[in-house]
Amino acid sequence: MTPRIAVVGATGYVGSELCRWLLEHPQFELAAVTSHTHAGKHLGEVVPGLFGLTDLILEPFDPRELSAFDAVLLATPHGISAEYVPALEAAHVPRILELSSDHRTDPAWVYGLAEWNESALLGATRIAVPGCFATAVQLAVAPFVAADAVQGPICIAAATGSTGSGAAPVAGTHHPERFVNFKAYKVFTHQHLKEMHAFLGILGTAPQLHFVPLSAPLDRGIFATVFIPTDERTDPNGLLRAAYADRPLIRFREDSPELRHVRGTAFADISVHREGAMTTVLVAIDNLGKGAAAQAIQCLNLSFRLPADTGLRRAPCTP
Ligand SMILES: NC(=O)c1ccc[n+]([C@@H]2O[C@H](COP(=O)([O-])OP(=O)(O)OC[C@H]3O[C@@H](n4cnc5c(N)ncnc54)[C@H](OP(=O)(O)O)[C@@H]3O)[C@@H](O)[C@H]2O)c1
Repeated sequence: MTPRIAVVGATGYVGSELCRWLLEHPQFELAAVTSHTHAGKHLGEVVPGLFGLTDLILEPFDPRELSAFDAVLLATPHGISAEYVPALEAAHVPRILELSSDHRTDPAWVYGLAEWNESALLGATRIAVPGCFATAVQLAVAPFVAADAVQGPICIAAATGSTGSGAAPVAGTHHPERFVNFKAYKVFTHQHLKEMHAFLGILGTAPQLHFVPLSAPLDRGIFATVFIPTDERTDPNGLLRAAYADRPLIRFREDSPELRHVRGTAFADISVHREGAMTTVLVAIDNLGKGAAAQAIQCLNLSFRLPADTGLRRAPCTP
């Protein structure tokens, strides 16, 4: 039987992106959607991009109703997910995938960096999907940590689009201010550092990360520039290509990856550049794709023991 999936917080940016992927997925059925503020309305009315593609009506959050589904995906804000999970567990929901930061360092949950935690994700029933910056940065850093090839502190400058802040309008995402601007924020203090230290520490010795997040005049996308000091004998290109040899959602580019090539996709595009003992890894992902909803579907696939890329090999719309 086709697994029936419910999305909580379906009207948000990540929630509606989950619905988009699930509506086209060959092995899952998007069977229920919930909303805190729009219960009773059609999903396609509140998320016009999905109009005509589904008859689903937004329901209020009710753990007992949700226990009828094979998996519940939580695309709710931090704090709300932590509130909802105990109620879902009490109602015996069989699988919970959580996209906020509430469970990313909780040892009872599997951390869903899919390329690096595949065996733990197979059949997993509690999955915490990584943050968008954390995904881009760790895809660059993890191969070096796992190979014990990091020779000093790692510096990261990573730019994000405005959808990273969610659908509710705030000053930092207001169009007249955002589209003419480029700035750093939360320098060395971004909340994703915590999950990166935690997971990289499982793969090997967690390196020191100097992380400067940048706010770019884009709606979608994360472009990470990651400077990794390596031994001159290390072959960084070979190291990364070997690490991702059988990972179909990682694509290597000779020149710089481009955000337009990953827009709306599940791909992470990577290039590797070396100068002496310094390696630079460039990573482009869609923050709502590989950085959130598409990686959640990748985790869901593995949880149901399907190939990780089932329903996810989709090209971007370019130009
Ligand atoms: N945006 C990204 O790039 C990104 C990437 C990775 C992870 N995440 C994480 O994914 C989660 C969703 O992010 P988002 O960007 O989609 O945010 P969002 O656009 O603000 O969507 C969150 C949705 O949750 C629902 N919600 C809000 N307050 C609620 C409450 N008090 N109780 C229940 N539901 C409430 C809202 O929909 P209703 O009122 O209709 O229920 C809202 O649309 C967050 O935890 C975020 O940190 C986001």
